[in-house]
Amino acid sequence: MSAHAEENPLLEGLDLGRRPESCALVIFGASGDLTQRKLMPALYSLAIRGLLPEHFVVIGAARTPGTDDEFRAKMREAIEKYARDPFREDVWERLASGMRYAALDFSDETSENSLVRILSTVDAEYGTQGNRVFYFAVPPNAIATLVSELAARRAAEGWVRLIIEKPFGNDLASARSLNELIADRFSEREVYRIDHYLGKETVQNMLALRFANGIFEPIWNRQFVDHVQITVAESIGIEGRGSFYEHTGAIRDIFQNLLLQLVAITAMEPPSDFTADSVRNEKVKVLRSLQTPDPTSVVRGQYGRGFVEGIEVPGYREEDGVDPASMTDTYVAAKLYVDNWRWADTPFYVRMGKRLGRRETTVAIQFKRAPHPPFAEATSDSLRPNVLLIHVQPDEGMSLAIGAKVPGQGMSIRTVHMDFLYGSAFREGLPEAYERLILDAMLGDATLFTRSDEIEEQWALVDAITSAWERDRTAFPNYAAGTWGPPSADELLHRDGRSWRRH
Ligand code: BG6
Repeated sequence: MSAHAEENPLLEGLDLGRRPESCALVIFGASGDLTQRKLMPALYSLAIRGLLPEHFVVIGAARTPGTDDEFRAKMREAIEKYARDPFREDVWERLASGMRYAALDFSDETSENSLVRILSTVDAEYGTQGNRVFYFAVPPNAIATLVSELAARRAAEGWVRLIIEKPFGNDLASARSLNELIADRFSEREVYRIDHYLGKETVQNMLALRFANGIFEPIWNRQFVDHVQITVAESIGIEGRGSFYEHTGAIRDIFQNLLLQLVAITAMEPPSDFTADSVRNEKVKVLRSLQTPDPTSVVRGQYGRGFVEGIEVPGYREEDGVDPASMTDTYVAAKLYVDNWRWADTPFYVRMGKRLGRRETTVAIQFKRAPHPPFAEATSDSLRPNVLLIHVQPDEGMSLAIGAKVPGQGMSIRTVHMDFLYGSAFREGLPEAYERLILDAMLGDATLFTRSDEIEEQWALVDAITSAWERDRTAFPNYAAGTWGPPSADELLHRDGRSWRRH
């Protein structure tokens, strides 16, 4: 626990004391961006709070040749640059003392053996007891071989957990065959398919909001909710990941996972308890109930040159590693329906994209208007519907829009906001999603990870959407960087007499 956490009375009741059993964490893809920007800083923040196992070793594995010292130097730099906590030499020294590097090429048997050798040495030297977490920060096509090799070389003692980064597969068929391959060799409770949004405090708070409060659940349905809007907007572009993004596009990078998980959490029924299977059983029911949208209910876009925060930025087709005639989507909007008793006929409008006006992830529950306003002076514009807005990021918190009387004579009504902000309520910086998720996987808690059936439902919907795109003739680019997406996304809502929330 940090000194700050110890002093902060508002943190009372927070679960800061979970500590996993000793283990070795092997990161495949250790020379990549994710390891430097997210994984190492997360491990460092866990170390600062004393949440890592007593005996703990990190083994970076990648194709690039390198030594333990070079790896440590690179990781130190990454922590200094990206960690949310200030750099502390003592914490770093402790973490670095158990850091090793393995240059691996899995088509070459000698390098596999070198990993096995390193692992048995660390068990003997550091007391990691044969417990292993394997983190796959590698593209989907590299996972199958690794999984087979690891299964063949499984240690006789200790437990194994596989953390697998998204995208899990490229479509339903490939995700299914990966699931089958893994299921043949490991049990589902050893597999942790990561979708880092589920580790965000505000996403978990949606569960707290809905299921720890009595007042929301009775109105959380088609009778009271007019529609739901979910926005995952980013102002950044593809950040040098052109060749990756050409294969994924917004639909596979964000819609297939983060976005559909937000829909599932918003729409799910109350689970009977907060265990992995209860929560995931309820989410998968929502995913199964999603109607396949017809092509007119889906809009796709790609950004062209434009201005973001006053700076001119290139169009997608001009980015490194991108085909100058690319038809890859960098924006998707859709109208979805959850076909069940709670939500029938209630639209879920969702949109996500790169190079939009600003970074914002929100879930907005727009309630129906008051049935009869008795105030003669109130115009329909001043009597706006109530909206519960959940700010996933930034400005993490919630806001409820309500109509209030303007002070003075008469009875004018204006919309005001009741706000809850994490920063002021708890006075503690929010943990990064990866801290929570890595710790959960080490503890064997899969509640915030995606189960194989959820992944397959998500892909089934995405496949249905993308197969219709084969006949689609949308001309790209169709929105300028720094705007809020193509005009057809606005039309999608205007047709229903609604509009996207203003920013
Ligand atoms: C990743 C996507 O999963 O999430 C990126 O691959 C995206 O394209 C990122 O930028 C957004 O995550 P966050 O936590 O920064 O909002």
